[in-house]
Amino acid sequence: MKIGIIGAGTIGQKHAAAARQAGADIAWVVDKNEAAGQSLAQEYQASYCSSPDRIWEDDSLTAVVIGVPNFLHKSFAIEALEAGKDVLLEKPMSLSLDDCQLIAQVAEASQRVLQIGFVHRYTGVGKLAKQLSVSGKLGEIYSAKANLFLRRNVPGLGKWFTTKELSGGGAMIDVGVHLIDLACHIMDFPEVESVMGQTFETFGRRMESYHYEDMWAGPPSLSGICDVEDAAQALVRFTNGSTLELHVAWAGNYPRKFFPDSVMGFFGDQAGIGFELFGNEVQFTSELDGKVVDESLTVEDGDFFLEQFQDFQRSVETRVVQGADYKEACAVQAIVDAIYSSRTRQTALSL
Ligand SMILES: NC(=O)c1ccc[n+]([C@@H]2O[C@H](COP(=O)([O-])OP(=O)(O)OC[C@H]3O[C@@H](n4cnc5c(N)ncnc54)[C@H](O)[C@@H]3O)[C@@H](O)[C@H]2O)c1
Repeated sequence: MKIGIIGAGTIGQKHAAAARQAGADIAWVVDKNEAAGQSLAQEYQASYCSSPDRIWEDDSLTAVVIGVPNFLHKSFAIEALEAGKDVLLEKPMSLSLDDCQLIAQVAEASQRVLQIGFVHRYTGVGKLAKQLSVSGKLGEIYSAKANLFLRRNVPGLGKWFTTKELSGGGAMIDVGVHLIDLACHIMDFPEVESVMGQTFETFGRRMESYHYEDMWAGPPSLSGICDVEDAAQALVRFTNGSTLELHVAWAGNYPRKFFPDSVMGFFGDQAGIGFELFGNEVQFTSELDGKVVDESLTVEDGDFFLEQFQDFQRSVETRVVQGADYKEACAVQAIVDAIYSSRTRQTALSL
C-alpha cells in the first residue's frame, strides 16, 4: 500500500510510525510547515510537498492519512475521496454534523474507504470491553458513564485547538469524541433520543493567568484566541431507555484520589464493567451465588495506532470499513452538536 501522510504534527508522526511498521510505503508527506514536513519526509525517505494538491495527481498513491487541524478535515477528505484515494481521517470527523454529512455523501458516491481515527477502540481495555458486551456477558447495558479529567492540559492555548473556528470546540469535540465513540461502539450505537449538555469556560480563557502542568501542541500563544470550553458535561438518553453520562475536561480542579483521570463504566443487567482509559485492567462485577463479586481482568496493551492502521489496511483490502465508519462518526458528531446546542439554548434537546 502506497500512502501519503497529510499533516506532520503530533498525530501525523504517530501514523507514519504505525504505517511503516504495518509495511506500508510512505511515498509523500504533506505539511504547510516546511520544516515539519521535510523532517518527517526524510525520516521515512518520502517526498515532501506543502499542499495536498500535488499528491491528488499521483495515481500510484492509493490511500492517505489525514492528521491536520479539524477545520481542514472536510476539504482535505473530500478532495482525497474525489481524487480516488482511500482515507484514514483523524477525529473529529469534522467541525459539525452538516460538514460530516457532506464528507459522508462524497465517500458514498466515490465508493472509497473512509475510516475515522477513533483509536480508543484498539486499546486493550477498549477491545475487552467490546468483547464482553458482544458476548452477552453484561446482558442489557442500561447505563454507561465516561469521564476524562485532565487537570491542567489545555492544548496549544491560543492556537488552533482553542480557536472555535478552527477546532469546532474544546474538550468535548477534542477528547470527548473518543469517549462518545467508544461508549456507543460498546453499546452498539443505540439511537439517540435526547441530549442535555453544559460546557464550562473557566481556565483556558484566562490566558495570562492560566498555569499549566502540561501542554500538548504547546507552547501557548498568548496573543491568540481561546473561545472554546475547557470542560463539558452531558447526559445522553437513547430511545432504548439506556443512558450515557459524560464529563470531560482539559482543565479543572478534580481531586485525583476520588476522580481518577479517566474512567469508563458500562452497567448491564447481568454484569457491569469499569476501567481506566489508559489502564490495563477491566473490573467485571456480577452476581455469584447470591453475592456481588468483583473480578479483575488484566489486558495487555498493544500499539493501538498500529492496530488501527492494520484495520485500515484490512478495510482497504476488503472494501468494508473495519474500524469507525462515517455513519458512526456522524452519530458521534450529532451528539457533540447537540451538547453544544443544548448549552447555547440552555435546555435539553430531543433529536
Ligand atoms: N486520535 C488521537 O488520539 C489524536 C491525538 C492528537 C490529535 N488528533 C487529531 O489529529 C489532528 C491533528 O492534530 P495534531 O495534534 O497532530 O496537531 P498539530 O498541530 O501537532 O499538527 C497539525 C499539522 O498540520 C499542519 N497543517 C496545518 N495546516 C495545514 C495545511 N493547510 N496543509 C498542510 N498541513 C497543514 C501543521 O503545520 C501541523 O504540522 C486533529 O484533528 C486532532 O484532533 C488525534
